[in-house]
Amino acid sequence: MPASWFTLRWEGGALHLLDQRRLPLVETEVACRTARQVVEAIQEMVVRGAPAIGVSAAYGVALSALAHAPLSGSGEDLARRMSDDVRALRLARPTAVNLAWAVDRCERTLAAEAASPASLAAAALVREAVAIHDEDVAACRAIGRHGAGIVPQRATILTHCNAGGLATAGYGTALGVVRGAVEAGREVNVIADETRPFLQGARLTAWELQKDGIPVTLIADVAAASLLRRGDVDLVVVGADRIAANGDTANKIGTYPLALAAREHGVPFYVAAPLSTVDMTLANGSMIPIEERGADEILQLFGTRVAPEGVGVRNPAFDVTPAAMIAGIVTEVGILRPPLEVSLRDAFRGVASRS
Ligand code: MRU
Repeated sequence: MPASWFTLRWEGGALHLLDQRRLPLVETEVACRTARQVVEAIQEMVVRGAPAIGVSAAYGVALSALAHAPLSGSGEDLARRMSDDVRALRLARPTAVNLAWAVDRCERTLAAEAASPASLAAAALVREAVAIHDEDVAACRAIGRHGAGIVPQRATILTHCNAGGLATAGYGTALGVVRGAVEAGREVNVIADETRPFLQGARLTAWELQKDGIPVTLIADVAAASLLRRGDVDLVVVGADRIAANGDTANKIGTYPLALAAREHGVPFYVAAPLSTVDMTLANGSMIPIEERGADEILQLFGTRVAPEGVGVRNPAFDVTPAAMIAGIVTEVGILRPPLEVSLRDAFRGVASRS
C-alpha cells in the first residue's frame, strides 16, 4: 500500500477514516472520537467493505471503553456501561459478518478483563482493536501471495464493487490478488464493473488502482457478460461480505449475474476473503441477511431524480452466489477448492489446531 493514502488509522485516540463518499473527487478524512460517530460513519458509508467495517467497529468499541473508563469500577462495570454502544456497532450494517466477528472478539477481551480496573480493561480493548487491524493487513497480504498462483503471466481480471485496500485495513482481498500477482511479476489488466447503484467500482476501485499504477478499464455492469463471451477476461475475482458454511457467498449486488455469465462462458470465478468473512453458523446462503438500502440510490443520479414520482423501488445491496459456481476461495491460509463445505471446515480445523 503506498504511503500516499490510507483507509483508516488510529491516531491521537481517534479513528481517522478516508471519506469514501467523496472519492474520487475529494480526498479528505473524517475523525471519529466516539463510538456513535463510528456507527454513523459505517451507516453513511464513510467507510465500507466487510473487513474495513469490522476493523472500524473494533476501534468503535475501544472508543466507547475510553469514554466510559474514567468512571470508577471494574471491567465488568465498564462492560455494562458500554453495552448500548456495543449493540449499535454490531447492528450498524447487517450483511458483512466481519462487523459482528470483530465486536464479538472485543467482547471476549472485555469479559477476560471483568475483574481488572476499568482503565486496564479499556487499554486491553485498544490493544485488541490494533491487533484486529494489523491481522487484517497481514491476512490481505497472505491472500495476495496465495492468489498470485491463480493469475496467468498475462491476465485480464474482471472484478465487481471494491474489494481493495479501501474495503480493508489495507492491500485488499480481490485487489489483494491483483496486487500479489503484480508483485510476483505478472502483467495484469483489471476490468472494473462500475457497480450500480453506489458506484464503488467507478469511484473507488478505479481510484485506488490508478493510485498504484495498475492498469484499469471501467465498464458498465451490463457490459460484463459481453466481454466474458468475447474471451476478453481470463478470470473473475470478487470479494465477499459473508460466506456460509457450504461456501455460498454474499457480495455486492450484481456479483451473482457475473458468476452466471462467467460459468456460461467457461471463465473461472474466484472469491477472495479472509476467514473472518466466513460464518460457520449459517448452513447456506439463504440464511444470510441482505441489506436493503434507501430508494434514493435508485431514484436519483447525483441528486437529480431520474424516475417518475410514485414508482416502487427495491434496492437489495447484496446477492448470494451459490458455492457450485465458485472455482475457489482465496484466503489467508490458502486457496480453498470445491467441495467448499469440506475445505472450509478443514480450514477452520487447521486454524483451531494452530491456536
Ligand atoms: O456496500 P459495500 O460497499 O460495503 O459493499 C462492499 C462489498 O460488497 C465488497 O465486495 C465486500 O465487502 C468485500 S470487501 C474486501
